[in-house]
Amino acid sequence: MLERKLRDSNHIKIFDTTLRDGDQSPRPEGFKPQQFTFQDKVDIAAMLKKLGVDTIETGFPSSSPANFEAVSEIARIVHGPTIACLSGAVLADIDTSWRAIEPAKDIGGARLHIVLGTSPTHMYYKLEMTEDEVIAAIAKSVKRAREYTDDVEFSPEDASRSDFEFMMRAILTAVDNGATTINIPDTVGYAMPWEYGPRLGEAKRRVDNYIGKDQVVISAHCHDDLGLATANTLAAVYAGIRQVEVTINGIGERAGNTPLEEVVQAIHYRPDIYQANGRPLFTIINPNYLKETSQLVETRSGLVVQRNKAHVGANAFAHTSGYHQQGIVKHRETYEWMDPKTVGQESSFAISAQSGRAGMDSRARQLGFDTSDVEVSKGIRTKVKNYADETERAVTDTELEKIIADFKGETLINRFVLGEVEMHEVDHTSRSKITIFIDGKPHEVEEKGNGLIDAAVHAIKNATGLNIDIANYAGMSLEEGSNAKSGCTLTVKNEIKITSYAEDESVPLAAIKAYIAAVNTIDRSEQRKRCQ
Ligand code: KIV
Ligand code: ZN
Repeated sequence: MLERKLRDSNHIKIFDTTLRDGDQSPRPEGFKPQQFTFQDKVDIAAMLKKLGVDTIETGFPSSSPANFEAVSEIARIVHGPTIACLSGAVLADIDTSWRAIEPAKDIGGARLHIVLGTSPTHMYYKLEMTEDEVIAAIAKSVKRAREYTDDVEFSPEDASRSDFEFMMRAILTAVDNGATTINIPDTVGYAMPWEYGPRLGEAKRRVDNYIGKDQVVISAHCHDDLGLATANTLAAVYAGIRQVEVTINGIGERAGNTPLEEVVQAIHYRPDIYQANGRPLFTIINPNYLKETSQLVETRSGLVVQRNKAHVGANAFAHTSGYHQQGIVKHRETYEWMDPKTVGQESSFAISAQSGRAGMDSRARQLGFDTSDVEVSKGIRTKVKNYADETERAVTDTELEKIIADFKGETLINRFVLGEVEMHEVDHTSRSKITIFIDGKPHEVEEKGNGLIDAAVHAIKNATGLNIDIANYAGMSLEEGSNAKSGCTLTVKNEIKITSYAEDESVPLAAIKAYIAAVNTIDRSEQRKRCQ
């Protein structure tokens, strides 16, 4: 019997294709490497396992020896998830794929995934095959894959632009020959949710009628050309399918694939919508690792996550408007109904000309100030607003501290003062030599790092004994021309997050200045809190 029963029919299986479809994303110009390296793939696969994905699609082994090596290493060392890889409907490719993933067969499982186009456009122009030839190739290739493993997935490529009856003929041919998962891709991001959901729902109904209920898993795979990848994937889940193919941060061909984080969180947070048999649908993803996984993929791919990206973007839980900040201070769920901590994020208030007193007071409290006196709070608010209007930027914590201290007549004393800073690259290694005055006494330290800023931060940590990391930074040139002055906004992470801004002749120098300013603010905030 060609069966692979779902353990719990409410389990939505997460098939992650970051390392295959995601790796097909062009990287920014000048970013190296333009594809994941062997080590990137191994590290990301280990992280995906921690995150709890059911299946990792690791690559396309017949595309290059490097691809083959990375896929087989993951199959050897990543134990837990099913290890999948993609092949065309060509016997030699399937043989190569199997050699790559075979080590996983007795561990988490090894899946062969075969793709062949079924839309008129793909068959006629790309494949130059007739319908009967396509059907014959599906039968032959799925059968070959089944000789190796009982876990075989078939995808009729460009399914959403395929004639429905022909797509079903292709699917049932694959099922007849042993396919255990049928993935129905919206390859070019063409479908509308109210077409895609019913198409997959009807395909599931027909496959269930043909071979028995839930004997074959039906899967959704969407691209974001019309910005509908998440909507289409969720429409398919709503229609009854049980596997979703997704990538971290939604990276993938052209406009990308469905972002894993969006689908997983929608299913988790809306059990009233996503349910079956009177129970919620569920995934086994641990959302606590979503931000960390997103950052790993961002760093290794060079594909920067937009600030307003749901769940994992820097602004996903940042609030600016005074009304919103006030709402949150009174009752978090007014504007923050999902807990940022569950995805490894934190809630934050941006202090700008649009913010009100509630947000500002809450940030002031974090800095150890008491602004409970309404008149004091109003006075500071006016100063903050004027400053934000003048600089046309959000007010950072180090600036807010200065405004409040000035208002209250307090002098800010810096325990840590930067002296000379030298930064250079020698033999591809970044080094930084800094002099730092601590309580007036000079300390000279030299350190290496992963880039100039990292080397300088190591040196400062070494001199101060404080283990304060930069969570993120953004540098920008402030003028035109190659010798333009630079500005840098950064966030450091201690017990609380502190934002800071500085300007200098280069981004690394501005970043180090901003970093020291943040360290001093943390030091003074801790002192203030101790005295309360
Ligand atoms: O988008 C697509 O059709 C694919 C297939 C290989 C599933 O990536
Ligand atoms: Zn795809």
